[in-house]
Amino acid sequence: MYNDPTFFNKLTHIRRHIHQHPELSGQEYQTTAYIRNFLEERNIKILESKLDTGLIAEIGKSDGKIIGLRADIDALPISEKTQLSYKSINEGVMHACGHDLHTTSLLGAAELLKQHEENLPGKVRLIFQPAEEIFQGAQLVLNTVDFNDWSALVGFHNAPDLPLGAIGFRESKQMASVDRFHGIIYGDGTHAAHPEQGSDPIVTGSQIVANLQAIVSRHVPANEQVVVSITHTTAGNTWNVIPNEFHFEGTVRTFDNEVREKVLHLLEKIVHNTADSFDQTADVNWITGPGPLNNDLKLFKKLSSSFTKNKRNVVPLDTNLGGEDFAFYQEHVPTFFASIGTGKNFPLHHPEFLVDDAALVYTVNYYLDVVKELLINDQ
Ligand code: NI
Repeated sequence: MYNDPTFFNKLTHIRRHIHQHPELSGQEYQTTAYIRNFLEERNIKILESKLDTGLIAEIGKSDGKIIGLRADIDALPISEKTQLSYKSINEGVMHACGHDLHTTSLLGAAELLKQHEENLPGKVRLIFQPAEEIFQGAQLVLNTVDFNDWSALVGFHNAPDLPLGAIGFRESKQMASVDRFHGIIYGDGTHAAHPEQGSDPIVTGSQIVANLQAIVSRHVPANEQVVVSITHTTAGNTWNVIPNEFHFEGTVRTFDNEVREKVLHLLEKIVHNTADSFDQTADVNWITGPGPLNNDLKLFKKLSSSFTKNKRNVVPLDTNLGGEDFAFYQEHVPTFFASIGTGKNFPLHHPEFLVDDAALVYTVNYYLDVVKELLINDQ
């Protein structure tokens, strides 16, 4: 395990700098300039791309396999509540998901790989991906990169609930699909004293929220994990008027694409049929998110035995109903994704979220292990 203290001290400063200057999804201009500058100073080639923010770089000169390493670079619309000396100076924006750690780890790996560029039997491409938090960044990369000649793409996410340095992953069902919906029930507003003169969308909407609970309890096998959550409803604005419309939104999470299709279909059917039974109409709009995150079986086998051989602390991972836009890549290139423990307690997206800088040794070595196993040992 590479653990030169001077090197990791430098990376700690970089991580803290990025933490202090977080930028929202799609607006990572300063972060991108910082990454570009770091890479250019080390003569690392930056590839042409259509990305406004984020970038793709390349290390390695010889023909041979191409493997990719990915880190996401964006922050969240959260006001930081930590007491850190390097807390966010951009009010209302915070690296509360640890993408500052991801970015720094890939910069660190880039510097070390560049020092051994002559010995690389192929190419390593580095994706500094924007806009992960809004599930758009992977799509932007897919619009500008042809993954046909890549043999693997590997990423990770920090995990505050795993011990420092532990590497957690599963063969499949690692993270859930994330679909989002927004619905409107169209009623007919009227005086609250005379509901019979209009058509009340609030009663219909309430019935729909209740009826949707039957999807998971009555239509999905008990051994499948599915969540249907209504997270936001709104209708009307005063006490004595029945409004015209009832709005609702929420999310569907699952690990199986067939179940996913079935749930989306049932949800629409229940909304329309319930509205119809009240003589009303409805619209449902979907924002399709990433699918369930699974690992490529060959990469899973190769990398899990290599981590074990290298005496890394490999831990089994529970299924996670959170989502990850890394899942968009798996239809285009064999992918592998792990969670790496940072050993601090606040959950991801918490305003007091912390990352232990000591995790950098493990996350940088994770990328180096991957390159060694997939590019150097496997020609
Ligand atoms: Ni994240």
